[in-house]
Amino acid sequence: MNAPVSLKVNPDLQTVTQVTHWTDRLFSFRVTRPQSLRFRSGEFVMIGLAGDNGKPILRAYSIASPAWDEELEFYSIKVPDGPLTSRLQHIEVGQPIILRPKPVGTLVHDALKPGKRLWFLATGTGFAPFASLLREPETWEKYDSVVMMHTCREAGELEYGRQLVADLRDDPVIGELIGDKLQYYPTTTREQGPFMGRITDNLTSGKVFADLGLEGPLDPVRDRAMVCGSLAFNKDVAAVLEGFGLEEGSNSAPADYVIEKAFVGDGV
Ligand SMILES: Cc1cc2nc3c(=O)[nH]c(=O)nc-3n(C[C@H](O)[C@H](O)[C@H](O)COP(=O)(O)OP(=O)(O)OC[C@H]3O[C@@H](n4cnc5c(N)ncnc54)[C@H](O)[C@@H]3O)c2cc1C
Ligand SMILES: NC(=O)c1ccc[n+]([C@@H]2O[C@H](COP(=O)([O-])OP(=O)(O)OC[C@H]3O[C@@H](n4cnc5c(N)ncnc54)[C@H](OP(=O)(O)O)[C@@H]3O)[C@@H](O)[C@H]2O)c1
Repeated sequence: MNAPVSLKVNPDLQTVTQVTHWTDRLFSFRVTRPQSLRFRSGEFVMIGLAGDNGKPILRAYSIASPAWDEELEFYSIKVPDGPLTSRLQHIEVGQPIILRPKPVGTLVHDALKPGKRLWFLATGTGFAPFASLLREPETWEKYDSVVMMHTCREAGELEYGRQLVADLRDDPVIGELIGDKLQYYPTTTREQGPFMGRITDNLTSGKVFADLGLEGPLDPVRDRAMVCGSLAFNKDVAAVLEGFGLEEGSNSAPADYVIEKAFVGDGV
């Protein structure tokens, strides 16, 4: 049988099934999942929209949903004059988006050596791969405890993560796996809140250990980490982790921590 014309033209089209706006610069959305797409929780793919000239405008996006989910979820910035997100922020349920089904990335369990305590360290939309990994059963099967540190300038920017963590604890399947293993540590840096400060500072000063009642400092025998933020953040966190004796790993050479960029560039 012949394929419908639109699929012949672009076999990578998926349909938007849900859109949620969190702030004036952040939104999340869900799309249909190609039946053939297999990925590891924490990986990213290229997604996009057709530009005015018909050519696709594609960008890297972490898949925010876990590998077992029937749909795919994404968590996105809205860059006012960004080639993709100036358009993507207006998508509505039922509309098509382009998805290239070639998942890749280093924020995967395979790239870490076995450990006892896993740290997810994210700023801004760098939370996206952890939205996937927090809902991944392997995370909870492999580690005794997981600390999710997420830092944004303002409290509103933490809301997507806050709600996801709350829903996790209520989830009948994942909630049971998590038990009391999850420690969630959201902080702000430019708005007053219950917990404040940069992730780098809170790790080196020991504040996060004191606030959560955890054994510190970081120790390469016990601790593993996954990092996702701006280039500057990633660089500074890597220095902190190396300072505690942790070594960077990759898919081909698993070690103590792994890093992925949340975006390229340093100014909107
Ligand atoms: C491996 C990887 C994974 C990514 N995953 C995500 C994701 O899950 N969600 C997401 O929103 N973006 C993600 N990005 C960034 C994404 O690829 C695009 O840059 C973003 O969608 C903006 O596209 P644009 O065409 O509108 O603007 P671009 O021309 O791509 O970017 C314009 C400028 O906006 C700023 N910017 C871009 N993305 C962000 C961001 N996420 N947070 C803060 N500032 C930003 C940068 O200063 C950049 O120079 C990822 C990037 C990489 C490399
Ligand atoms: N967030 C907003 O409300 C907002 C609004 C308009 C435009 N923008 C622009 O959007 C771009 C991205 O902004 P963003 O807020 O998503 O990301 P960001 O600037 O990377 O900041 C996100 C969080 O990471 C922290 N951080 C930044 N660099 C760090 C480092 N080297 N080490 C440790 N922590 C670090 C920030 O703390 P500090 O606050 O201490 O830097 C902040 O809490 C920026 O160019 C910004 O000017 C942001």
